[in-house]
Amino acid sequence: MNEISRISQTAPLGDRTVRRVGFGAMQLAGPWVFGPPKDPDAARAVLRRAIELGVNHIDTSQAYGPDVVNELVAEVLHPYPDDLVIATKVGGVRDAEGGWVRASRPEQLRRTVEQDLRTLRVERIDLVNMRFGVGGGGPDPVPLAEQLGALTELRDEGKLDLIGLSTVSAEVVEAALALTPVAEVQNAYGIANRTDEAVVDLCREHGIAYVPYYPLGSAFTGGPKALAADPAIASVAARHGASASQIALAWLLAHYDRMLLIPGTGSVAHLEENLAVDALRLDAEDLATLEKVAHVSAPGF
Ligand SMILES: NC(=O)c1ccc[n+]([C@@H]2O[C@H](COP(=O)([O-])OP(=O)(O)OC[C@H]3O[C@@H](n4cnc5c(N)ncnc54)[C@H](OP(=O)(O)O)[C@@H]3O)[C@@H](O)[C@H]2O)c1
Repeated sequence: MNEISRISQTAPLGDRTVRRVGFGAMQLAGPWVFGPPKDPDAARAVLRRAIELGVNHIDTSQAYGPDVVNELVAEVLHPYPDDLVIATKVGGVRDAEGGWVRASRPEQLRRTVEQDLRTLRVERIDLVNMRFGVGGGGPDPVPLAEQLGALTELRDEGKLDLIGLSTVSAEVVEAALALTPVAEVQNAYGIANRTDEAVVDLCREHGIAYVPYYPLGSAFTGGPKALAADPAIASVAARHGASASQIALAWLLAHYDRMLLIPGTGSVAHLEENLAVDALRLDAEDLATLEKVAHVSAPGF
């Protein structure tokens, strides 16, 4: 067995174990993550198929829709399978036009978690990510300790289980670790966007799950089409008879053994393609070729 073929299909997320390829539900809302999906039955079919294929980690948010995605998840999947881990995020909400607005004061974080509980129809949320700094306008005016304090209080009350961090620097991760255990870091990262490498290294050092958002380059920056146009990705994809998306996901799995994937899609065919990636093994030659992938930076979303 060579080094690469030892890649595990599951990994810890806090005290839980999940399949490393999960599902990001953001694409199930309407255009620009606002309002209902264009085809609600297609969105329901994606959720059903994800569970059928063994997904047990779904990433969602009260802000997706808002409420639309949580409500779809509950409508289709509740009562939830025992092993399903649902992760949400707080720190931002939507305004009436769909703009992203910061909501990071303790009472706002509490309100968002309570709305998540209602819409997901649960008494306790498995994991809540604190997204630091939403909606532009400079640094978050609410200190990290106050925001984390609100979440640890909710944890003490039994309303959530695990705390994660999103869109954070290495310094914020270090500061947070001094205050509370951190189950995951969810930042923008991918084969063509490696600006967050220092945070990946820090997660490796502390054994924290790293959950990249935009693992396929995101719908906002060309996504899989842009990946397929990269000659290094295209050559490895041709070698394996795989898609560019699968190579990008396989690269992430090979990069860190606690990297958990949440590719987003509103298509059953794409979901199936993304989940098939845990059977794909990249060798040393593939990984060397993929070091040549051109890097772009992620949108500031
Ligand atoms: N913490 C945060 O602030 C934050 C921010 C953004 C996202 N997220 C989370 O991260 C998840 C992933 O991010 P994302 O959905 O924005 O970006 P992504 O996973 O990088 O890319 C999604 C795009 O790729 C397409 N796609 C997916 N699988 C494909 C395949 N096999 N072949 C071709 N196209 C494919 C999707 O279109 P189709 O629908 O046509 O497949 C969609 O346009 C989200 O769902 C969300 O849960 C978190």
